Amino acid sequence: MFYKKNILLGVTGGIAAYKIPNLASMLKKQGLNVRVMMTPHAAEFITPATFEALTGNRCLIDTFERTQPPEIHHIAWAKEADCVLIAPASADIIGKIANGIADDIITSTLLACQCPIYISPAMNTRMFENPIVQDNLDKLRHYGYHIITPNAGHLACGDTGSGKMPEPDELYAYLEQEMACEKDFKGLKVLVTAGATQEALDPVRYLTNHSSGKMGYALAKAAALRGAEVTLISGQTNLAAPLGVRFTSVVSAQEMFEEVKKSYQQQDVIIKAAAVADYTPVTVSGEKIKKADDELSIDLKRTDDILKYLGEHRKNGQILCGFSMETEHMLENARTKLKKKHLDLIAANNVKMEGAGFGHDTNVLTLITEMQETKLPLMDKVEAAHCVLDAALHLYRKKN
Ligand code: CTP
Repeated sequence: MFYKKNILLGVTGGIAAYKIPNLASMLKKQGLNVRVMMTPHAAEFITPATFEALTGNRCLIDTFERTQPPEIHHIAWAKEADCVLIAPASADIIGKIANGIADDIITSTLLACQCPIYISPAMNTRMFENPIVQDNLDKLRHYGYHIITPNAGHLACGDTGSGKMPEPDELYAYLEQEMACEKDFKGLKVLVTAGATQEALDPVRYLTNHSSGKMGYALAKAAALRGAEVTLISGQTNLAAPLGVRFTSVVSAQEMFEEVKKSYQQQDVIIKAAAVADYTPVTVSGEKIKKADDELSIDLKRTDDILKYLGEHRKNGQILCGFSMETEHMLENARTKLKKKHLDLIAANNVKMEGAGFGHDTNVLTLITEMQETKLPLMDKVEAAHCVLDAALHLYRKKN
């Protein structure tokens, strides 16, 4: 459920308009009050009835449309909106907004808006690169508008280049970032590590574990949505980096350690959700290891314990949170790690438990501090991430 509820979409005349009903529907499903306004040219591509059916709200094209009860729509809608997105935004509407023209429902409403406004330009590359359009976009940036960079690709006119409106899920991510959460982590720097490390044996093989990275990515995304400046250092996963997160991809435990060492001192909260290899091959063969008839043994050596290092070198006021993945004696083992690694918080789970294993979208965590033990029920990893962040923020405020 989103923290802010009222979103206003402005649709202008461009072929990408046909993708906006999908976005409106995604937002409506999150419980948002979605209002849509269109230019008459947008109605050449998509009908207002589509938006009305999807949002349950009237879709406006005419500024002077009379409704019962009577309403000055462009003022009422501007006052109500928590956020506005103009997508697709034509060169024409961009030019009008940048120059204070208010001659239709969208431009009139925007002049009266005081909430964040996102503009998603969509047009042919030549039009997009035209210095007049670029100057207008710069002017909008100067006035605090958020300009969503168009994607490059195959355009409707047959050309290839930049000017393509991002897909609805990408636009959704911008609105989610703006509206989903209260910004209670604003001003805080959060470092998250996620995913499995890989320890090379030879040029074709490696040792790793089953971690999908989902829990760590959920933590990084949730912290970003809550306003934190997030750095995500990730092992190899199949997941896309969340929007607005500083992302570094690493392979081995050693690489993760090096990356963490570069940035840990600037962090306020560090959450180590990565499943780091405890052992790595003593030697990495330069050539592929060929099979033989007898057995093969591989000598392994210990890797550095990154979290333990952080516990020993932390700066004052910093909150350190680890994860403890167990198959037996969960609480006892987790408490030992909390002490041994000098942590403020450890999130323990038993991977043998239903819904808490690798790759699931759910988890069952117990949050352990020196003083407290909180058993959380089975929940979505996104929800679980927010619970870990709540606990970390509580500890941070107590310490600082
Ligand atoms: N961790 C780490 N560096 C390592 C190993 C673990 O930073 N070389 C961190 C993990 O990211 C996690 C916590 O330590 O936050 C606990 O990891 P876990 O694998 O559960 O425990 P270990 O300390 O490795 O101990 P064991 O494998 O014996 O359970």
